[in-house]
Amino acid sequence: LGKKIHYFEEVSSTNSVAKEIAASEEEGTLVIAEIQKGGRGRMGREWVSPHGGIWMSVILKPGIPLRHASRLTLVAGLAVANVIREIGLDARIKWPNDVRINGKKVCGILTEAKAEVDRVDYVVLGIGINVNMDLKDIPESFRAGSTTLKVELGKHIRRVSFLQDFLLELEQQYISFKTQPFSHILNDWLALSDTIGKEVKVTTPSRIIEGRAIGVTPDGALIIRKADDTKEEIIAGRCIYARP
Ligand code: BTN
Repeated sequence: LGKKIHYFEEVSSTNSVAKEIAASEEEGTLVIAEIQKGGRGRMGREWVSPHGGIWMSVILKPGIPLRHASRLTLVAGLAVANVIREIGLDARIKWPNDVRINGKKVCGILTEAKAEVDRVDYVVLGIGINVNMDLKDIPESFRAGSTTLKVELGKHIRRVSFLQDFLLELEQQYISFKTQPFSHILNDWLALSDTIGKEVKVTTPSRIIEGRAIGVTPDGALIIRKADDTKEEIIAGRCIYARP
């Protein structure tokens, strides 16, 4: 991954650029920018992307059924959490895609896929990591609940070597994704997740589900046991811990 890199000083959204070029690019091509003016988060939210972060999109062509594309979000989250752990910070994953340190978000992942019938043509893995910003660099309305690697580590991080380590880790996880049963990745993901066992409230565009998170399905859906003891699987949503 990352043999070919499209580097921008400023871009609207690396995911949007990656989607435009994905059809004609090889798997593993990277789009990366110093700042994004129209960074996008999940569920239509804005993603603040000032100088000092890593804002990138990886083009993948895994040739999988569309329903498995969400698995790649877990793959990416696991890879980010692993490299952050390598620099000595206790990164945990909050379902489905937040990587957090001490309960604060340091990375978000936005997976977008294009499919023909049920096969994906490409997947764009959009990864945003708050690296060398100070909290004051994040607008006040987004600051609560966010942190950066620099803030947590107490020192500046070399983004280039962090990116190299991340790409190697992502590549290893991606090879494992393509060659091993998905349960391998899922088990590693579960070991780093701080969601399972928690009382959660998950908001989807159509409704709110409350209960205890008891597991994740092989497609990455969260399994919730509700107060009436019935179970529900939620493939996408915003998850809040009842007791953080
Ligand atoms: C989220 O947690 O809501 C997902 C945030 C994803 C942000 C990244 S930054 C690089 C890529 N380009 C975007 O516009 N979004 C993703």
